[in-house]
Amino acid sequence: MERFPFVMSTTDDFRVSGLTFPEGFTFGSATAAYQIEGAVAEDGRKPSIWDTFSHTPGKVANGDTGDVAVDFYHRVDEDLDLIKSLGLRAYRLSIAWPRIIPDGTGDVNEAGLAFYERVIDGLIARDIEPVVTLYHWDLPQTLEDRGGWTNRETSYAFAEYARVVGERLGDRISVWTTLNEPWCAAYLGYANGHHAPGIQNELASLQAVHHLNLAHGLALIELRKVVTKPDAKYSVTNNLASVYAADPSNPEDVDAKRQIEALRNRAFTDPQLRGVYPADLLEDTKHITDWSFVQDGDLELIHQPVDVVGINYYNIDVVKRSAEEHPSQGTPFPGATRVEWVDVPGPVTAMGWNIQPKGLYDLLVSTHELYPEYDLVITENGAAFDDGVVEEGGERRVHDPERTDFLLRHFAAAHRAIEAGVPLTGYFVWSLMDNFEWAFGYEKRFGIVHVDYETQVRTKKDSALWYAKLAATGTIPE
Ligand code: NOJ
Repeated sequence: MERFPFVMSTTDDFRVSGLTFPEGFTFGSATAAYQIEGAVAEDGRKPSIWDTFSHTPGKVANGDTGDVAVDFYHRVDEDLDLIKSLGLRAYRLSIAWPRIIPDGTGDVNEAGLAFYERVIDGLIARDIEPVVTLYHWDLPQTLEDRGGWTNRETSYAFAEYARVVGERLGDRISVWTTLNEPWCAAYLGYANGHHAPGIQNELASLQAVHHLNLAHGLALIELRKVVTKPDAKYSVTNNLASVYAADPSNPEDVDAKRQIEALRNRAFTDPQLRGVYPADLLEDTKHITDWSFVQDGDLELIHQPVDVVGINYYNIDVVKRSAEEHPSQGTPFPGATRVEWVDVPGPVTAMGWNIQPKGLYDLLVSTHELYPEYDLVITENGAAFDDGVVEEGGERRVHDPERTDFLLRHFAAAHRAIEAGVPLTGYFVWSLMDNFEWAFGYEKRFGIVHVDYETQVRTKKDSALWYAKLAATGTIPE
């Protein structure tokens, strides 16, 4: 397969319109429960770690919380109509565990199940496929009080929750995704503490890695017992890093790249898809733990069949070996004491993230090379920019040419990967609408639909109109 050399230059190669995706390719958009729903204390929902974290002063920009978010809970029909009006045939959403089993284990909350039943039925009625994630970071606080993901019991509680949802909605959900970005949940949650529950402890973060992986496997086992939809698919979404050595001819830099790939990618994909933890990961972290929290039989439990592997991609990482040792405690890379990130010149989004569509191409190709038997789906890709609404001829408009350009280049990169032989079957734009961007609160807007947070008015951005054309024709528009 053609591989692009790492050149810190331009993104121009990928500005190619007119490319047509294969018949049946899925064009979708994505959101997550805590980021959009609001209604955090309604109908029996109890707090998750994100309620606690966002209400802790200093944790989220401007003190923002998900209390109201974009009020999806009360605007389901309007928002599902919006998806329909864009012509998208799939919607990736997450279910809030604290609505279903508010204390994490035990009593099931009927109102929570009824809410998601309404959402799923609303999608199906509009001919939109429900692609459901069970864990998008909103762990019930009661479980965190017992150690959260450092506690193995949490994995079993997750399996119980998966079974409850599977029993109720297993006749109609098209795709089941166990976890979203366990790297973030483990390392941002427990190693650098930038995300809930805000803990800084390297050992805790590696325990979390394992218990999230275990939760994935246990949940799949339970789902397979109860799901009745014959063509339901099972998956997991990882935010795999697209990593480059700053100097590919320098073995030290190449080794830094290997180390980061092990921590961020293979720590998840190897157990999930191969039933092993990478030997180099265990070696790199042996001063932190002997991984004795991995019990006999765990890897077989984790290694359950999946139909499709989800990848979230935003930007590349360029790393080198640093001459000096620095503490890794408080960073999201436990044990990476001699890795340095190199700035990538060129355009960035409002998050400050580099715009490198070729990183997506390379990641798809390399993931396919490592795990050739799986179909791949881009479960998230998109960009934050500072958008504003303008009135034109009595109509509200949002001109976001950078986002359209970003999407065009990344769709072109995805198309190129398909041409190179990668079995990529779908692409979900993050996000359907502006929402609560975790530690950044409402400051960062990722939506293709603008949300006015005062009035909750939704306005399609130009990028949404562009995307609607792509979804309608299958061909990348200008
Ligand atoms: C990944 C996460 O899954 C999603 O929740 C988040 O909003 C986007 N990335 C953008 O940061």
